[in-house]
Amino acid sequence: MKNNLIIDDLLMNIPILEKAAYLLQQGNLVAIPTETVYGLAANAFLDQAVAKIYSLKNRPNFNPLIIHCKDLKMAQEIGIFNDYAFKLAEVFWPGPLTIVLPLNPNAPVSKLATAGLKTVALRIPAHPMTLKILELAGIPLAAPSANPSESISPTSASHVEKAFKKIDGLSMIIDGGACDVGLESTIIDLSEENPILLRPGKITRENLSSFIGEFSNNTLEARHPKAPGQLKRHYAPSIPLKMDVHEVNERQALLAFGPSPLLSAKKTLNLSPTADLIEAAANLFTMLHELDDSKFESIAVMPIPQQGIGIAINDRLSRAASS
Ligand code: TXA
Ligand code: MG
Repeated sequence: MKNNLIIDDLLMNIPILEKAAYLLQQGNLVAIPTETVYGLAANAFLDQAVAKIYSLKNRPNFNPLIIHCKDLKMAQEIGIFNDYAFKLAEVFWPGPLTIVLPLNPNAPVSKLATAGLKTVALRIPAHPMTLKILELAGIPLAAPSANPSESISPTSASHVEKAFKKIDGLSMIIDGGACDVGLESTIIDLSEENPILLRPGKITRENLSSFIGEFSNNTLEARHPKAPGQLKRHYAPSIPLKMDVHEVNERQALLAFGPSPLLSAKKTLNLSPTADLIEAAANLFTMLHELDDSKFESIAVMPIPQQGIGIAINDRLSRAASS
C-alpha cells in the first residue's frame, strides 16, 4: 500500500467488495488482503464455513483461528477486554497485533474457529479493502494465512492464486496489492494474569512493554517445554473419550459418523449421517460440548476415515482421548 491513491481510486471497487461481503455472509471462503499476509476468510459465526478453511488448507489439526473484526465494538462483543487489552487496542489497532482474551460465552462464534477453547484471538487488520469488507458484511471473519498447511505465507494475490488454483472451494481472491509487513501478526495472550508473547512479529516485545510494562519472558515454549512452539492448550471433555468404537453401552454417549450409527447408547449425536467429513468437522466441537456431561460414563466415537480433513478430526479426537 505504498500509494493510498491507487487503493482508493482503482482498487476500492465497492461492488466487488460488496460481492465478497455477501459471499462471506453466505458461508463461502474469500481470500482477503491484510497488512501482514493474505488471509483465507470465513464467517466466524458459521461452523460449516470455518470447516471449509481447514479442508482447503489441508490442516492436519484444528489450530484455533484469529477472528478479524471491523472495530473495537465488534471485538468487545467477542472477547472480554481488560485494561491492558484496551490500551494495546487503542495504540496498535488497526494493525499487526493479535490479542488473546477470554471468550465472551454469549458470543456466537464457531467453536471450530476457537477450537473449543475458552479464549479467543482477536485483531483489527489495517487494510482498507478488508476493513470495508468487514464493515459491509457486518460479521467477524475467521482467517488463517491463505496458504496450504506448511507452505510459505502468501504476501500477494498471485501467491494465493497459485496455491489454490486447482482447488475448488475458494470463491474469490481480493487483490489488495503486496502486503506491507509480509509476516504474520504478533500475538500476545492477555487472557491470564501475566501477559505472554505467543508469536513474535513486527510489533516487538519492547513496543508492547512500553504500554503495559515489562512482562516476563515466558513464551509458550517455556510453559510447555516438551512441545516448543506448539499450542498445547485444547478443549478436552471432562468425561473419558474413546475413539474407533464398534460397540456402545447404554451408559455411554455416542458420537456417530455415517448412515449406520451404533445402537443402544444413552444419547447419540451424528457428526454426519451422510459421512461428509467437512460437515463432521463443522459439528465436532459443538457436539463434543453437548455430550460432555457427567450423566454419561464416556463419549464413544465411531471411526472417522483418516483422509482429507478427517486427519484433523482424528488428531483432535486423539488429543481429547489422551487428556
Ligand atoms: O497476520 C496474521 O495474524 C494472519 C492474517 C491473515 O491475519 N493470520 C494468521 O493466522 O497468521 P494463523 O491461523 O496462521 O495463526 C493463528 C495463530 C495460531 O498460531 C494459533 O495457535 C493462535 O493464532 N491462536 C488462535 N487462537 C488462539 C487462542 N485462543 N490462544 C492462543 N493462541 C491462539
Ligand atoms: Mg499460518
